[in-house]
Amino acid sequence: MTKSTSFLLATVVAFGMMATTASADIKKGQKGYLKTCKNCHGNGTKGAGMHTQAEWEALFANDAASIISKHAGTPAEAFFGGSTFQKSAQDLRDFLFEYGNDSGNVPSCG
Ligand code: HEC
Repeated sequence: MTKSTSFLLATVVAFGMMATTASADIKKGQKGYLKTCKNCHGNGTKGAGMHTQAEWEALFANDAASIISKHAGTPAEAFFGGSTFQKSAQDLRDFLFEYGNDSGNVPSCG
């Protein structure tokens, strides 16, 4: 195998992995949503449909400061201040963004 062929192969593999990772995060975010948000905000379609993609982006900007402050004084305040939320925030964002109400996408289940 020549050097350039193996480089090409490595590039293809790297791209393949990136694509898988992106969709895995949305799935993870969906799971997280169903586990932590559904009780208060309804199923995934309804939850993600609360906002447009641009609004989700804003809510999760600056370490999710805006969505955290929206829950100040609600029963979810402790959850949003905790490490579980911090760890899953990126996946949640990916899920909510993917299905924002102007995205044209609808989650397959949940
Ligand atoms: C214990 C109940 C509870 C949980 C759990 C909860 N929320 Fe909320 N959420 C609320 C309340 C109460 C408000 C403030 C009143 C409102 O706007 O509905 C709110 C507000 C919001 C808002 C702002 C709504 C607006 O009008 O801009 C968003 C977005 C949101 N929540 C998303 C989420 C997401 C995503 C999760 C899961 C990570 C979550 N919430 C978990 C109760 C909850």
